[in-house]
Amino acid sequence: MCGIIGYSGRSDATGRVIDGLYSLEYRGYDSAGIAAFVGGEVKTVKSEGRVARVCEMIKNFGGIKSNCAMGHTRWATHGAPSDVNSHPHICGKTVLVHNGIIENYAELAAELDAKADLLSQTDTEVAALTIDRSYFECGDPIKAIAEASKKLAGSYAFGIMFADLPGSIFGAKKDSPLIIGISDDGNFIASDITAVLKYTKKYIALSDGEMCRISADGYEIFDALGAPIKKEICTATWNAEAAERGGYDHFMYKEIAEEPTAIKKTLAPRVKGGAVAFADDGIDDIMLSEMKKLTVVACGTARHAGLIAKYYFERLCRVPVCVDIASEFRYRDPIIDADDTLMIISQSGETADSLAALRLARERGAKTVALVNVIGSTIAREADTVIYTHAGPEIAVASTKAYTVQAATLLAFALRTAYAKRTISFEELKRCTSVLTSELPKATESVIGRSAELYEAARKYFSADDIFYIGRGADGYIADEASLKLKEISYIHSEAYAAGELKHGTLSLITPKTPTVALATRRSLFEKMMSNIREIASRGGKVFAVCADDFPCGDAVEARFDLPACDEMIMPIVAATACQILAYHIAILRGCDVDKPRNLAKSVTVE
Ligand code: AGP
Repeated sequence: MCGIIGYSGRSDATGRVIDGLYSLEYRGYDSAGIAAFVGGEVKTVKSEGRVARVCEMIKNFGGIKSNCAMGHTRWATHGAPSDVNSHPHICGKTVLVHNGIIENYAELAAELDAKADLLSQTDTEVAALTIDRSYFECGDPIKAIAEASKKLAGSYAFGIMFADLPGSIFGAKKDSPLIIGISDDGNFIASDITAVLKYTKKYIALSDGEMCRISADGYEIFDALGAPIKKEICTATWNAEAAERGGYDHFMYKEIAEEPTAIKKTLAPRVKGGAVAFADDGIDDIMLSEMKKLTVVACGTARHAGLIAKYYFERLCRVPVCVDIASEFRYRDPIIDADDTLMIISQSGETADSLAALRLARERGAKTVALVNVIGSTIAREADTVIYTHAGPEIAVASTKAYTVQAATLLAFALRTAYAKRTISFEELKRCTSVLTSELPKATESVIGRSAELYEAARKYFSADDIFYIGRGADGYIADEASLKLKEISYIHSEAYAAGELKHGTLSLITPKTPTVALATRRSLFEKMMSNIREIASRGGKVFAVCADDFPCGDAVEARFDLPACDEMIMPIVAATACQILAYHIAILRGCDVDKPRNLAKSVTVE
């Protein structure tokens, strides 16, 4: 929800921190700030607005020459985006940047009798004061952070400087991600590896309760009690270019264009003897054959991928799948026990609600599987088993390639489960594996190559105030995601409906000014879809069909986008890419900031 980065070393710290903040902006972009040691004193620059504004301010000061600095880019939770609420916050000798939420900040402020000392409306400033009071009492930075942490309820990744300890930056984390980046000319702390990839691929992921200190000379890690510990150094497989825009105008489009490769990279290593398998992920056929029920828990787009899993699993394996919204899951005392398999789907692997659901399922003894894109993320580390997607870094707030790769992987997982349960033969598994690994990337590529056609459709619909999406079966679940994508980046109100449900109320909203995107990839449902389209057309509604090329819709639709001929099994996933491109063009035509839509952030680490 916020991004933090710090650097202490022998090179330009301000430049490194600003670079890192630009790559972390996907985590929040309503205000930003930096703190730097300059000649033994702390200098801060912060402002409402984006990192570029802070950069401009720094230039106006003639730059900040420093070898030790930290920065923050914010997604406001407590207190509006404003100069005063921007981080870093300073209390006494303590300078703090924070990602997370301190839930008991009001009680703490009262306990510390702090009202007069606080300048902002943030929970972070209360955390800074708590740490500073501890530091004042004990004079030892790690002890002070450990003592203060015991009093804080909620989540945090902290970057901390103490004004009398120039050259050092301290970190601490609970339920929000924090890594140490290790480079030849200095060391980093950061919310994630993408912020430091330009300088190093070597990193250590901190676990909850752990603290660290970085300086030009090295780094130290401490457990929750302040005892020094050693941790394994990991090497990131992503390179810096993967987290840059390349020649594209927007990350979102770049990431859509990467879908064919991302699908191949994810599935290819899992193909053994011509058939997809998950044994190398720690999931063998015995475990799959014993699965009686699957519960999928996720948020937003990842949950929509879960719905695709439901469709394929129930159809191919006859295994009932319950798909839950992570933020609801633990508050309704879910029926889950040691006989159950629970799958968490998350691109970032850090989503707070999904993590909470995972922990509850583990407490109840369920087998947990995580489908995650970010290697070493908290959800990946805490699940019993992890299936990694290899989509590469996804920077645009709107998830695109992560979703299509999740959908493809879930279809592969359903197919292997079906084989393990002998509801399909090995020959059929091999045929489907080839469809997934070869036809799907090709068909997706073909859709991307026809972006201009989707731009023409976007020109027809971009000025609408409301757009509906309909579909049946798997197409209905794709419609859910297509509608979310449109809302998220174009700010057009949109709803998705199972096509047959429209006449049970929603049809009253259809007017000549309310277009509908109809998804039709299932031949057995063509007739029914046609009836639903006619219901709309006869009420003056305009319909744009995203459909199989033999969908017989005649002139009942205003326009159509024919999906490339491919196996019906994968066509809904191909349709999803077409809808992502349509939403992208509509948002661009409306002048929206597609990569950083208003009010949103990529990694939602608060509940
Ligand atoms: C997708 O476009 C959204 N930005 C959002 O719904 C996202 O999918 C959701 O927050 C879950 O994130 P995760 O996959 O990182 O857990």
